[in-house]
Amino acid sequence: MMSRRPLRAIVRKRLQRMLREVLDQYASVREELQHRRYGELAEGLEALREQLKAQQAAAEALTAEVAPLRGEMATIRAELGAVRGELTGFEVRARRDLHYAAEVAAAAESAAFSRAKLPLAPAFPHPDETLRYSVGLVAVPGCALEFGVGGGHTLRLMVEMLPDRRVVGFDVFTGLPEPWRTGFPAGVFAQEELPDVPGADLVVGLFEDVLPGFLAENEGPVAYLHLDADLYSSTKAVLDLVGPRLMAGSVVLFDEYFNYPGWQDGEHRAWAEYVEQTGLTFDYAGYTYDHEQVIVVVIAHPGSRP
Ligand SMILES: C[S@@+](CC[C@H](N)C(=O)[O-])C[C@H]1O[C@@H](n2cnc3c(N)ncnc32)[C@H](O)[C@@H]1O
Repeated sequence: MMSRRPLRAIVRKRLQRMLREVLDQYASVREELQHRRYGELAEGLEALREQLKAQQAAAEALTAEVAPLRGEMATIRAELGAVRGELTGFEVRARRDLHYAAEVAAAAESAAFSRAKLPLAPAFPHPDETLRYSVGLVAVPGCALEFGVGGGHTLRLMVEMLPDRRVVGFDVFTGLPEPWRTGFPAGVFAQEELPDVPGADLVVGLFEDVLPGFLAENEGPVAYLHLDADLYSSTKAVLDLVGPRLMAGSVVLFDEYFNYPGWQDGEHRAWAEYVEQTGLTFDYAGYTYDHEQVIVVVIAHPGSRP
């Protein structure tokens, strides 16, 4: 019979071996598990890193898109500031600006005048259009005269549209001989040199000084008369001297007939007085609706002496 000691030793050894084997297996399983977990974690980490990169790229693209918008916002803010400034200016003008109030009143008076006297006359948006239309109405023989040449703009239009007529421009070229209205002192419109207007003759001097000599040397009717001297006194001087050369069919274009403060005392008055004195009859034939020009066509002129 075997003693109990060796048997126990054998069993213990066997148990120890089994325990070692179990521990080894546990270690290898743990190692395997850890390995797998690290792999999964690393993969997850990599995926997160990719997502982060994509989000960074999207954020950069968004920043690039927003940059010009910031510029636009600044421009819009500046424009809004300017509009607010203009609105404030308009509000102040509407409430207490005397010039503005006088201009609004003059526009209302002129609107009433045009409704009463020119209800059917064609209306134009720009002085040049009114001038072109008025020149197109000329259908009688005679020359074309302009009083108030300044830089020559309107005289050039007349030459362009009346290539077969004599066109003459009169001006002192040192500007208005007397003040006209606020903003137009004596001397305004003075020219440093005579304007170049091919196709037109220029007569230099005050109308009242040069006209008697000119009229003595140049007979015949005036088919087209452009009055652009602004002042009552200058317009009256021209009408008194040149008026008798107007006849039935003559066209007169006034450059400052109405629609400014005091218009009733300017060219309008000079014409009304001339009509009153001579018995001339006429039709209103057109006007500029947001400016000051008015066209008349003579119907009959008892005082005509071409
Ligand atoms: C408004 S400017 C003429 C503008 C011109 N039609 C143009 O197209 O530029 C008025 C002109 O009338 C002239 N003028 C006014 N009264 C005058 C007068 N009594 N004698 C001569 N020229 C006069 C001034 O010298 C001024 O050049």
